[in-house]
Amino acid sequence: MKRLFPAAAAALLLTACCCGGNSCKTAEPAATPVVYGATIDLPAPDLTRGTTIGEALQNRRSWREYTDAPLSLEELSGVLWAAAGINRPENAHLTAPSAMGLYPIRLYALFAEGIYRYEAEGHRLVRIAEGDRRAASGTQAFVATAPLNLVYAADLSVYDERPIPAEHVRYLCGQDAAGYAENVNLYTAATGLRSITRGSVSPELLGVLGLEGGRWFVALAQSVGK
Ligand SMILES: Cc1cc2nc3c(=O)[nH]c(=O)nc-3n(C[C@H](O)[C@H](O)[C@H](O)COP(=O)(O)O)c2cc1C
Repeated sequence: MKRLFPAAAAALLLTACCCGGNSCKTAEPAATPVVYGATIDLPAPDLTRGTTIGEALQNRRSWREYTDAPLSLEELSGVLWAAAGINRPENAHLTAPSAMGLYPIRLYALFAEGIYRYEAEGHRLVRIAEGDRRAASGTQAFVATAPLNLVYAADLSVYDERPIPAEHVRYLCGQDAAGYAENVNLYTAATGLRSITRGSVSPELLGVLGLEGGRWFVALAQSVGK
C-alpha cells in the first residue's frame, strides 16, 4: 500500500471526518432556530436526510410523549414538505395524493408562539393568530405541550360542482388528510422525530382557526416533536 506523508494523511483524515464543508453526509445536519415572525420562510427540504424508506416503515409508530424541544427550521421544513409540499412544480402537485386532484386540505401549524397556515407555493408559513392555542387541536394532555400540532382542515366547497354525496365527500377529504399525515409519520420515523395522527380535536378548533363550520371541517390533526 502506498505510504502517505503525515500532512497528507492528516488532511485525508480531516476530510473523512468533516468533509471540510456542509455537504458531508457524516456532518451534523443544520439546526437553525425558528423565528416566529409574521411569516416563516422555510428552506428547501433536504432530500438526503433520514434513513431508508424501509427503515422508516420499520420504525413508524404513534408517540404520545414529547419534550418541549422545538423543531429546527430544517426539521420544520422537512415535516411540512412531507405533508403538503409541492414535488412537481410543473403542475403544482404535492407529495401526498388527492382524490380527483382537487386538494381540499388546508394545513395549519400550531406552535406555542401562534397559529400559521402553510403555503405550498413558496414553501412558507403565514401567521394567522398569535398566542398558544395548541390545546384546542386535541383532547389529550400531550397535545397542549407538543412543540408542533398540525391540523388538516378540509374545504368542502372544493366539491361544490361535483355530483358526489356529501357523506362521500367527507370520506374523500379524510382519505386525503390521512395521506398527508402518513407522509409526516414516515418522515418523522426516518429523521428521529416523533409524531402521531389524531382524529380527536376540540370542538372549538374550527373557530380558533377562523373557519366557517358549514364549509370547513377538521379532517385530522397530528402532533409532532421529539
Ligand atoms: C385516523 C386515525 C386517528 C387517530 N386518532 C388518534 C387520537 O385521537 N389519539 C391517539 O392517541 N391516537 C390516535 N390514533 C393513533 C392510533 O391509536 C394508533 O395508530 C394505533 O393505536 C396503533 O398504534 P401505532 O400507530 O403505534 O402502530 C389515530 C390513528 C389514526 C389512523
